Amino acid sequence: MYDFVSAQDLPKPELYRDLAGVVKALVEGEPDAIANMANMAAAIWQFLPDLNWAGFYRVLPNSGRDSSDGELVLGPFIGKPACIRIPFGQGVCGTAAALGKAQVVPDVLAFSGHIACDAASRSELVVPIIRDGRVIAVIDLDSPTPGRFDDEDATGVQRLAQIAALAI
Ligand code: SME
Repeated sequence: MYDFVSAQDLPKPELYRDLAGVVKALVEGEPDAIANMANMAAAIWQFLPDLNWAGFYRVLPNSGRDSSDGELVLGPFIGKPACIRIPFGQGVCGTAAALGKAQVVPDVLAFSGHIACDAASRSELVVPIIRDGRVIAVIDLDSPTPGRFDDEDATGVQRLAQIAALAI
């Protein structure tokens, strides 16, 4: 049994430091990518306040539906059932994957091409997971609160993405 204690009222740098420590401990010595993504999603859900979706999309070879190089496919997550496949360059997730850059979206309704998976989502943070110079997955966080995510969240989740890069 894991019994990690989360103090959601900590300042963000401390909160993400604690969460990174927990995530490292969870994936340590475990080679299974699905198990590691599932436990990471659960730890993010436990530690970060005000989320309505937290999880992973993996980059997989294109399934032949269109001519693009690859697409994102739904991975382990906590939240409502979500869209399964997202083409590169589409939505917040596809944009983060195509650019290899974190996307902080304070108002999803103002993001052209945003893909609504849960109607309650109002803001979103997507961070690419990069291994050997290639985007292999993204971490996607949604919140029902507008402006929930800022640069401190992006920095904190990038730290988690670095751990994930070696664990998935
Ligand atoms: N909103 C995302 C789609 C994934 S869901 O939020 C879980 C996007 O625009 O890519």
